[in-house]
Amino acid sequence: MSLLPAPLNPPITDWRGKTAWIVGASSGIGRAVALALLSRGARVAVSARNGDALESMAARHPGAAIVLPLDVRDGAAVRAAHGLLAAQGPIDFVLFCAGTYEALRADAFSLETMLAHQEINYCGALHVIDAVLPALLARGGGHLSLVGSVAGFRGLPQSLAYGPTKAALTNLAEVLYLDLSGHGVGVSLVQPGFVDTPLTAGNDFAMPALMTPEAAADAMLAGWARGAFEIHFPRRFTAWMKLLRVLPYRLYFPAVRRVTGL
Ligand SMILES: NC(=O)c1ccc[n+]([C@@H]2O[C@H](COP(=O)([O-])OP(=O)(O)OC[C@H]3O[C@@H](n4cnc5c(N)ncnc54)[C@H](OP(=O)(O)O)[C@@H]3O)[C@@H](O)[C@H]2O)c1
Repeated sequence: MSLLPAPLNPPITDWRGKTAWIVGASSGIGRAVALALLSRGARVAVSARNGDALESMAARHPGAAIVLPLDVRDGAAVRAAHGLLAAQGPIDFVLFCAGTYEALRADAFSLETMLAHQEINYCGALHVIDAVLPALLARGGGHLSLVGSVAGFRGLPQSLAYGPTKAALTNLAEVLYLDLSGHGVGVSLVQPGFVDTPLTAGNDFAMPALMTPEAAADAMLAGWARGAFEIHFPRRFTAWMKLLRVLPYRLYFPAVRRVTGL
């Protein structure tokens, strides 16, 4: 008898013959996950706005990669892309990895920037969930994974527009898990630390434990193979962030000020 606790989701260890839809696949983490799944024998549909980037990735995987360009802010476009893919057969795995990040502080508050983050990072996820959920529920299977961020754990400086969208995604994923796991639908939440992608390229501060998108993709595949709900990495960084998460505010605020110098 195994002493390990039972996995929270059905583990995904064999990607051969599976169909995955990666939304936010034109660069960074989503692109690395798409390539990793293709190399493991999955059929992978890739979505984002930059159709040229998606096409050039797909050209190296003829027959296995399907290009579905879209803007996640456009619910009708997301539903149409889902319809095209679903017409070819069941979708086993959906990753919402689209996201935008701009540093923002309250003394430069911009409603436009706040809403832009909400529309892509949070409402974009809702559009994808709206499109895929009926088929996942009808089938009683499949897996939905959302990419959050450690920036959603608690309030952080520069994270006025970004952090709240990631906190919302965290809560959303938790509720989805509670509602869907009993229906046979897997739900997971990916909480990366710093990953070297176009999203973080503009950061003007040292990013602790910065990792490559390929290493992030490896950690994500390992998490899905474990049947984990929360997949956070790199652990040497996220362990500290988890500790900060449970500190009382009286200790948390000065600790963050001291660590970030902001
Ligand atoms: N890099 C990090 O350190 C880090 C840490 C924690 C969490 N994350 C999260 O990881 C996810 C991937 O980010 P990344 O670091 O890999 O950055 P990235 O390379 O900039 O990737 C972002 C992806 O989202 C897509 N996207 C953005 N706006 C979109 C829209 N309106 N419609 C459709 N697709 C859109 C982009 O494609 P197009 O521009 O072609 O549309 C791109 O494929 C994001 O959710 C991010 O918040 C990243």
